[in-house]
Amino acid sequence: MHDEHDLQGALGDNAGPVFQSILERRLSRRTLLGESGMLGLAVALPFNAAVQAAAAPSTLSFRELPQGLDGDFAVAEGYRHQVLIRWGDPLFADAPAFDPARQSLDSQLRQFGYNNDFIGFVPLPQGSGSSDRGLLVVNHEYTDPRMMFPGSPAGNALNRAQTDVDIAAHGLSVIEIGKSGDTWQVLQDSAYNRRITPNTEMRMTGPAAGSERLKTLLSADGVRTYGTYGNCAGGVTPWGTILTGEENVDGYFSGTVDGNPEEENYRRFGMGLGRKSWANHYERWDLAKNPREPLHVGWIVEIDPFDPNSVPMKRTVFGRCKHEGCNLHVNGDGRVVGYTGDDAVFEYIYRFVSRDTYQPDNRAANLTLLEAGELSVARFHDDGRLNWLPLLFGQGPLTPDRGFKSQADVLLDLRKAADLLGATRMDRPEDVDVNPVNGRVYAMLTNNARRTAQQTDAANPRAANGNGQIIEFWPEDGDHTAAVFRWDMLLLAGNPAKEETLYHPGISANGWLSCPDNCAFDQLGNLWIATDGAERAGIADGVWACEVAGPNRALTRRFIRTPVGAEMCGPFFTPDSQNFFCAVQHPAEGGSFEQPQTRWPDFDAAMPPRPAVVVVTKAGGGRIGS
Ligand code: FEO
Ligand code: CA
Ligand code: CA
Repeated sequence: MHDEHDLQGALGDNAGPVFQSILERRLSRRTLLGESGMLGLAVALPFNAAVQAAAAPSTLSFRELPQGLDGDFAVAEGYRHQVLIRWGDPLFADAPAFDPARQSLDSQLRQFGYNNDFIGFVPLPQGSGSSDRGLLVVNHEYTDPRMMFPGSPAGNALNRAQTDVDIAAHGLSVIEIGKSGDTWQVLQDSAYNRRITPNTEMRMTGPAAGSERLKTLLSADGVRTYGTYGNCAGGVTPWGTILTGEENVDGYFSGTVDGNPEEENYRRFGMGLGRKSWANHYERWDLAKNPREPLHVGWIVEIDPFDPNSVPMKRTVFGRCKHEGCNLHVNGDGRVVGYTGDDAVFEYIYRFVSRDTYQPDNRAANLTLLEAGELSVARFHDDGRLNWLPLLFGQGPLTPDRGFKSQADVLLDLRKAADLLGATRMDRPEDVDVNPVNGRVYAMLTNNARRTAQQTDAANPRAANGNGQIIEFWPEDGDHTAAVFRWDMLLLAGNPAKEETLYHPGISANGWLSCPDNCAFDQLGNLWIATDGAERAGIADGVWACEVAGPNRALTRRFIRTPVGAEMCGPFFTPDSQNFFCAVQHPAEGGSFEQPQTRWPDFDAAMPPRPAVVVVTKAGGGRIGS
């Protein structure tokens, strides 16, 4: 999901990034760090002044796809794409076929949900490393009733039956898929297939579980809880579970925050009320009747896809915010390090370090690893240092006189705690993921139209930032639990012909991108970037790829275009890097059910456009990108 409000006025106004000062900051930092050898490659120039492409040998030799914007999905020449599963497609052999005129709760509960976002592929058999059979776990981030129901109703105007469909279209789907020849299939008879919805029983775990503040109409003990929604991105753990981030969870509630016992929390969270119909039909989402229900969402949730009866676990160790997703890295000492971003303007990047260590031969032990450990938040210094500031009750300002009575309070009031520690306010952190080849962490910062010139810093160097940037950080000695990291800018996105950007100087007119959101790494450590918002810069959203080191660093090249109105989510490779899964979210957004801008992927007058998962392979086989 993208936030229209944050972007208003952001584009096309050349709002005055002071590029000279950006460059000076980089130069002085580079000089300090003694890395001046990289300089000439990293500074972007307008096209008409660009030096010739470096033409160094590259592991990404695909022929770049032109920029553009139309009603169809497109991938680079020599690649084929297959629509694997669409909103409404049956997950089970006895599930009804999709009928847009006769949707029901019963059918939606057995069909693929709406607005696919994160995709995780876990091989079958479990732990096998297979690239032709596995489970696909897919987030259904949110719904758009204008595009789902005849008559294009507003989100808060749905009747009870429509609301039940709307609720059931959220959550996640687990599906078994297999490849025969070069075609993938959904295996409807698989015992693994499962829908997880806002009503699925779950548990709170970790320091906040059982907090008085989590006791609600539905949860007498503050431990039992129900459902997940607003699921944006996520990650796959080394033990084959899925982490899913609950992001825009605030819009589901109705009422007022005035006088609510959590008023301070909700105001800091930026609660936006009354956008959905759920509270009209269920008091669970009515703040007047159930004032603390919002505290049950905004977490990272761990799901075991290999056990269809498993109870998903909300991992409060990661704190409560608008989590984009979460990705783990096994540190050299066996502790697990998780990175997560809070996706809102001026919010933060967080790091979790587990107390206990990962045990490759003891999956049962790993299933409780995310219950105890230390959370910290990032402060980026202009000189290239990054400090991780511990979010620990009793330390520094996180004390009772500031309103924190326990570690549970620190995790529940995470944004307030991070404010008090002086963390760096970022340009909307989206995916934060560790490159498995070089061990560096990459954060997608999607945009921040509200940043003023006075609020810029080296990590967020542009005012009225409509295009976003990608930042890279790493521990110098390879220890991801270290208190101090180093950081660098990989790229400043946007159209180099129109504004100050930062790419490899050899970038082509098709290579620039806008609003990086999700990412994936192939087996060579190349970065694959999915965007959300490039249409505002005049081009379709899609996927771009680049190397992150060597002479072609930050030479981004377009690989995929989404249909009009859609954003691109969920990039994920099979272990052999020969299959690339991606999610087309909200195709034709901004149109209506009756008159959409495109009817992708069915192109059938009787069908609305449908969010769908696409799998891309190389014609004749081979590594994606080669
Ligand atoms: Fe759901 Fe952070 O985009
Ligand atoms: Ca998005
Ligand atoms: Ca996202």
